[in-house]
Amino acid sequence: TAAEGAVYYLFGATGDLARRKLFPALFSLYKEGKLAEDFAVVGLARRPRDNGQFRQDVYESIQEFCRYKAIDQELWSRFADHFVYMSLDIHNVDGFRELNRLSGELDQKFGINGNRLFYLALAPELFGPVSFNLRDGGLLESAGWHKLVIEKPFGYDLESARELNGQLSQVFKEEEVYRIDHYLGKEMVQNIQVLRFANQLFEPLWNKNHIANVQITLSETVGVEERGGYYDHSGALRDMGQNHILQMITMIAMEPPGRLHPESLRDEKVKVLRSLRQLGSSEEVRERVVRGQYRAGSSKGKELPGYRQEDKVDPESSTETYFAAKVYVDNFRWAGVPFYIRTGKRLPVKTTEVVIEFKNVPDNVLFAKRHELGPNLLVIRVNPMEGIYLKINAKRPGSDNEVQPVAMEFCQSCQIGINTPEAYELLLYDAARGDSTYFTRWDEVAAAWTFVDRIAAAWRENDGDLRSYAAGSWGPEEADRLLQQDGFFWWPVN
Ligand code: BG6
Repeated sequence: TAAEGAVYYLFGATGDLARRKLFPALFSLYKEGKLAEDFAVVGLARRPRDNGQFRQDVYESIQEFCRYKAIDQELWSRFADHFVYMSLDIHNVDGFRELNRLSGELDQKFGINGNRLFYLALAPELFGPVSFNLRDGGLLESAGWHKLVIEKPFGYDLESARELNGQLSQVFKEEEVYRIDHYLGKEMVQNIQVLRFANQLFEPLWNKNHIANVQITLSETVGVEERGGYYDHSGALRDMGQNHILQMITMIAMEPPGRLHPESLRDEKVKVLRSLRQLGSSEEVRERVVRGQYRAGSSKGKELPGYRQEDKVDPESSTETYFAAKVYVDNFRWAGVPFYIRTGKRLPVKTTEVVIEFKNVPDNVLFAKRHELGPNLLVIRVNPMEGIYLKINAKRPGSDNEVQPVAMEFCQSCQIGINTPEAYELLLYDAARGDSTYFTRWDEVAAAWTFVDRIAAAWRENDGDLRSYAAGSWGPEEADRLLQQDGFFWWPVN
């Protein structure tokens, strides 16, 4: 079914996110009937552009990035008709008044009842000023609903996040704010709760009695590309840890929500974040967290520069491009089970994967005496492959009870005809329908910053423990030691 009609305001319409993700997502939604005819998109940015040029940008972005490759011309021209552009100085309220007038016209033209969704693909320092001008320019006075969708990073630490939230909450209610963490829009991340709560097979085993450890890898082959300016002030912990990785931990670790209701699910996620064992001292941080930065290296015969040689990066930067950590969720379900997490730029493969390692069979059973039995693994592949596989032990055919590991596999991305929606499609659609399940609530953000701030503080105190790793390698070897100490190792990713 189609989302209720609305005007979508795209701040940052000439930027990368709009081009790579948002225009293609809107097109897919339209093609699938999830956007009906009662919508309009207003592209907003400083630079001058007319509607024709803007529609051309949208067209090219869809051609390049949309999962629907062939663009039907008739469909396109109907779709394009809903797009207009307005050049806007976001510090000047007069422009917002004009935008409000334009909105009235669009409401009329497309039969929209005043619903307005403001999507801020902007730097976070602009969230506050834009919100105030939306209010002062009269944009929040229309008849329908008003929603604010914002991109990460939500602040730089707890204090700045609080300040930011304070500004937003002068204008919008918490229920009107949709904070994007695009990992929560990924099909396989959403699938974690179905896998856990719709299968009697897993949930009884999903705890400290049966699970030895959990491993989460978010590896990337890219360096910092043209984002050196942003990244050098952020680093891997803030860029990927505070949001995506901690969110994945919540999905894996949370208790079953009481109801299928956004707040029930988010309540459970907050509990997980609050149960994270806080790293008290710099000593603990050094023991349980490894940070690294890539130096020059090579991959597949290609020479790669070091991080400090990248564009807009301080040549003496001590920003981490990699981190790995051992995290504990101190509650009854998970007490004592390590969650090993890692992420980095310039690693050998691009992958997002979760491994649930089950405890081994007891030593005294028949087979363990004679063979090296590997543990059962449940592997959730999020990206680029999507699927699940379960590693179990079985008899090697023709042998004398020899045991070999085999995989029971469900490969979602291998299924013909399945063209999984992109994260941004799911999230835009959810926001438009008012479903906030897969958006982060303020208390989640705050709890995540509380955890991350301690690590960042310890790192500030001690620059010396930044390890270097060769671009194209799996990161500093200290990250292997995190697991070795406990008798485990990183399962190779696929
Ligand atoms: C973003 C980070 O949030 O996620 C980027 O800012 C990172 O640095 C990206 O490259 C990874 O997303 P995905 O969906 O490609 O795994």
